[in-house]
Amino acid sequence: MQIIAFFATKSWEEEYLKDKLKIVASDLTQIFIPEILSKEHLPSSRDFALCSVFVDSLIDRTVIDALPNLKFIVTRSTGYDHIDLAAAGERGIVISSVPSYGENTVAEYAFALLLTLSRKIYDGAHRVREETRFSFDGLQGFDLKGKTIGVLGTGRIGRHAIRMAKGFDMRVVAYDPFPNESFAKEFDFTYLSFEEVLKNSDIITIHVPYSKETHHLINEKTIALMKPGAYLINTSRGGVVDTPALAVALKQGRLGGAGLDVLEEEGVIKDELDFIVHGHPEEHSLKTVLADHVLMDLSNVIVTPHNAFNTKEALTRILDTTVEDIVGYIKGKPVNVVPR
Ligand code: NAI
Repeated sequence: MQIIAFFATKSWEEEYLKDKLKIVASDLTQIFIPEILSKEHLPSSRDFALCSVFVDSLIDRTVIDALPNLKFIVTRSTGYDHIDLAAAGERGIVISSVPSYGENTVAEYAFALLLTLSRKIYDGAHRVREETRFSFDGLQGFDLKGKTIGVLGTGRIGRHAIRMAKGFDMRVVAYDPFPNESFAKEFDFTYLSFEEVLKNSDIITIHVPYSKETHHLINEKTIALMKPGAYLINTSRGGVVDTPALAVALKQGRLGGAGLDVLEEEGVIKDELDFIVHGHPEEHSLKTVLADHVLMDLSNVIVTPHNAFNTKEALTRILDTTVEDIVGYIKGKPVNVVPR
């Protein structure tokens, strides 16, 4: 009999998974562990061969070494940069993900962040609710129509963002090492070099995966190429942006504002008490954590807690694909396998 351990699922997700798996994988024993999986949070019972995690778990070599029976990981996410692929590969562990569940969901959120900044929605709502002051003084914004948006990464989410930008009558430019020319023709936008996109855009929205190549893609040097007063939207991964460099550029007024759903070191920010108790300062950049706090305090910055994926429709699609991934693995035909 095989055992699967689900980490950090909500109670409704637990019920949904149990209902589905009862029908398609009735022999599979399921255990639900409320905490994330990381080296600081290793479960007491470790005899499961299958496990399912979300992006807040951190499966590094230490975790993999501590789970000798582990053969299969399904991450309930598109990104898989929270799993050490090399360490898993050496042990022959199969990893499946959810390649597509929320391209519209995340692109809609990128625009929600952008509109929050461009129309000062947060400031207006805060004023009315917290100060009971019904006045538009100081809340002047700017139109999206006619502005140039630079889309970094024209994969599933980036392409949805382009469709939406076109709906707002924006001019679109994009960079992707693998340009999709037929899509560019269909939606009437231009691919430029990375540098040209930065130089030409009033707004940059990031939709690239996090990898060694995209680590700190936006840094002091590349920020210097951006238009003065440009806006940055990041719904991809925090590590794509050099946080201290962004904090300085915003604080000095070099950039107009930023909408960030993801932060470098967001794991530490999420549970600072846990970091104080279990964390290892040498493994985390405390300068970055400090820069995160600077960003969270700035009035022209909106930070949200990695929430772009979080709609009812998207989460249901995630769980459905997770079940397909599990069934694929136990039937010996894994699907949505992460390339090594
Ligand atoms: P995708 O794999 O469909 O597209 C990524 C695109 O980025 C590809 O076209 C690729 O060629 C391009 N790319 C790679 N390196 C690049 C670079 N250096 N510069 C420009 N483009 C580059 O991925 P998808 O589904 O569009 O998702 C993108 C990322 O969004 C995910 O990897 C994930 O990290 C993030 N995400 C965030 C969520 C959230 O809740 N905030 C939810 C879902 C995804």
